[in-house]
Amino acid sequence: MNNNIKTNTENKIIDGRQVAEKIISEIKKELKLHNNIKPGLALILVGNNPASEIYVKMKEKKCAELGYYSIVNRLSEKITEAELLAHIRAYNNNNKIHGILIQLPLPKQINEMNVLEAVDYRKDVDGFHPVNAGRLMIGEKCFTPCTPAGIHELLKRYNVETSGKNAVVIGRSNIVGKPIANILLQKLKGANCTVTVTHSATGRISDFTKKADIIIAAIGQAEFLKANMIKEGAVIIDVGINRVEDQTHPKGYRVVGDVDYKACYKKASLITPVPGGVGPMTIAMLMKNTLDSAMKRIYP
Ligand code: GUN
Repeated sequence: MNNNIKTNTENKIIDGRQVAEKIISEIKKELKLHNNIKPGLALILVGNNPASEIYVKMKEKKCAELGYYSIVNRLSEKITEAELLAHIRAYNNNNKIHGILIQLPLPKQINEMNVLEAVDYRKDVDGFHPVNAGRLMIGEKCFTPCTPAGIHELLKRYNVETSGKNAVVIGRSNIVGKPIANILLQKLKGANCTVTVTHSATGRISDFTKKADIIIAAIGQAEFLKANMIKEGAVIIDVGINRVEDQTHPKGYRVVGDVDYKACYKKASLITPVPGGVGPMTIAMLMKNTLDSAMKRIYP
C-alpha cells in the first residue's frame, strides 16, 4: 500500500487534516483485523485550564470514534502530588488501560517530573517518561511524543527530502523542540538531517534559519518566523497555536502559528497551515501510540 500523499506542484500546503484522517482510517482497519483488541486510554486533567479542557475533550472524542475504552479523570486544582500519584499507580495496574496521559501544565504544587516518572513507561503514550526520552535519543524503540511524531509522519508522507539537509528547530521544549531534534537526527526516512536547535539564548536566530532547508517553528510566539528569515524553497513546519486579538473576528481573536504564513508561503516549497497542519496530527499519533501499546508493539 502506498501511504504517501501525492503533492500537487501548485500546492505548497502540507495538509495535516488529510494525513491525520488517513492515519485514523488505518487504525480503524487494524482494529477490524484484530477485533479482540480494545485499546484503553486514561486521560488525567488537573484543574480548569481552558486550553487543556479543549485538548482533553478532543482526545476523548477521538477515542469514542475509534471504539477505544477511555477514562477522563478530572481532578481538583488543589490536589496534592501524593493523591495524583495514587491515581497514576491505579492506572499502571489496570489491565484495561494501555495508555496514560497527564495533560500538561500541572498546578504549581505538583512536581511535573515526579508525575511523569510515576507513569509505567510501557503505558507512556505521550512519550514523556525519561525512559522513553532516553530511548528516543539513542534511537531505540520507544513511545515518541505525539507532536514530534506527527511532524515526522508529515515529512515522510510528503516525501520531503530530508537526508543530509539542514534542519533548524526553533524552541527547546521537552514536548516538541528536543524530541523533534532527536528524531531528525536519526538515520531514518524523513530524518537523517544536520540539526541545529535555536532558543531564547541564541544570538540571531535568523543567522541559522536563513540557511535551513527545513524549519520547525515551536517557539510559542505569534508569527515569529518572517519571510526574510527563510531561504527560497525551504520546508516550513509550524507548531505554534497562538491567539491574537482581532476585533474583525466574531470571537475577538484569531489563531495564528509561529510563522508569518502569508509571507513565508511565497518563499517556501512546502508549509503547514495553522490550523490544519501539525495540530490534527498530534491526536492521530496519540491514537496510534495507544494502539501500539495495546498491541504490545513497543514493549512486547
Ligand atoms: N500540553 C501541551 N501539549 C501537550 C501534550 O502533547 N501532551 C500533554 N499531555 N500535555 C500537553
